[in-house]
Amino acid sequence: MRELSFILNGEQRTVLVDNSDILLEVLRDKIGVTSPKCGCDTGDCGACTVLLNGKNVRSCLIFAVEVAGQEVTTLEGLSKKGLTPLQQAFLEQNAFQCGFCAPGVILAATDLLSSNPNPNEEEIKHAIAGNLCRCTGYTSIIKAIQSICATQKKE
Ligand code: FES
Ligand code: FES
Repeated sequence: MRELSFILNGEQRTVLVDNSDILLEVLRDKIGVTSPKCGCDTGDCGACTVLLNGKNVRSCLIFAVEVAGQEVTTLEGLSKKGLTPLQQAFLEQNAFQCGFCAPGVILAATDLLSSNPNPNEEEIKHAIAGNLCRCTGYTSIIKAIQSICATQKKE
């Protein structure tokens, strides 16, 4: 075991880990942050998505020790000061049903919007292509993201 220190949702965290511990397990089982989900454990579903230094990554494919000294953001971190406009848009557009995919989709879209505030539909589809949703058919998810772009264009 060794000490791992990193920034989680804006706060310095230190946790004991094995070199083989996966980031998703550490977040959920050792720290109790449960928005990243385990859908496949093989990098295929996107349910475990977190932001690593602002870029979306699959936490089931990363050893926890790889994030030493770096900044990890989960959905819990996005909502610290209340819902973001994107999260609000997901609610308004009914962009999830069971919600299992929602944290990952919202983080993937957050990453997209941070580098491209007005993406077109193809760019949105590309950005969330790695996040599987079994419930919505994606239409409402794309509408929610587009509604944020429309809001930003008006401002
Ligand atoms: S649990 Fe990580 S991609 Fe599915
Ligand atoms: S809302 Fe159920 S998997 Fe997306």
